[in-house]
Amino acid sequence: MSRDTVAMPDPANPDPASPGPGEAGASASPSGPPGPGTVFLVGAGPGDPELLTLKAHRLLRQCDALVYDSLVPQAFLDLVPAGCELHFVGKRRGHHSVPQPSTNAVLVALASRHSTIVRLKGGDPFLFGRGGEEAAHLVSRGIPVQVVPGVTAGIAAPAYAGIPVTHRKAGSSVTFVTGHEEIDKGRPGVDWRGLARCSDGLVIYMGLHNLRLIVSELIAGGLDAATPAAVIQQGTVRGQRQLVAPLGELAERVEAEGFASPSIVVIGEVVNQRVPLCAPEPADVTMPIPF
Ligand SMILES: C[S@@+](CC[C@H](N)C(=O)[O-])C[C@H]1O[C@@H](n2cnc3c(N)ncnc32)[C@H](O)[C@@H]1O
Repeated sequence: MSRDTVAMPDPANPDPASPGPGEAGASASPSGPPGPGTVFLVGAGPGDPELLTLKAHRLLRQCDALVYDSLVPQAFLDLVPAGCELHFVGKRRGHHSVPQPSTNAVLVALASRHSTIVRLKGGDPFLFGRGGEEAAHLVSRGIPVQVVPGVTAGIAAPAYAGIPVTHRKAGSSVTFVTGHEEIDKGRPGVDWRGLARCSDGLVIYMGLHNLRLIVSELIAGGLDAATPAAVIQQGTVRGQRQLVAPLGELAERVEAEGFASPSIVVIGEVVNQRVPLCAPEPADVTMPIPF
């Protein structure tokens, strides 16, 4: 296996693409040149290997190439066949993530010489996972692509703390929102004051860094400082821990207790509906992959 190397295609000498495992789009032809392989944008779920879908599991067992990032347990990498080409495109300690254009280029390159390429992403690929961008890029290059939804951390991590994200008595609406606002995204930031008024519950991804600002904006928007809130770190896997606090005390508690990424923040009355006894034991696996 080649790990962490980005092998660009040699158009003059592509590997023959084997027939796909019954998937639409894997278009090797026995007579002509191999057509583009199919890229599967696969959701890995939140970490617990038993939350991997059957489809994701099957594709991992069959793929010729695997492109993955940080929020994926090592156990999933062990599923791929011997000889599968591995590419890490996540963030390493002290380094930035691989730029999106580079990841796109890796996928295009792999599709030119392999039949089944799995692009594995934590949680669900279309929820704060850039799956839509990658799908559009591949389609624009004429490369077949399919999305395989996964269990998102925003539902699974609260569930592993016994917190339902909706509840008939406490939350008829829920908003999945990113707390990681980047000025270079070229779109308006999150309207936290508006969300305070219009959503019963909030599930915030990547929210720890800006938590003080988020909390103050929500309170300024009318949310009571006594609203129950929770943070779940390393949901579903070894090291999972959580805290419950009133919204007004949340940021202070998070800092005092040293909570870190990856964490999900849940805000709303649903937190008071938690049933800790229904929470599964976190899986005994490490996630993210050690840097
Ligand atoms: C780039 S987003 C990807 C979300 C992913 N596509 C999903 O559907 O879960 C990464 C963020 O998801 C959240 N996250 C992912 N896995 C988590 C886990 N096991 N426990 C808690 N939060 C998690 C954290 O907020 C993390 O910073």
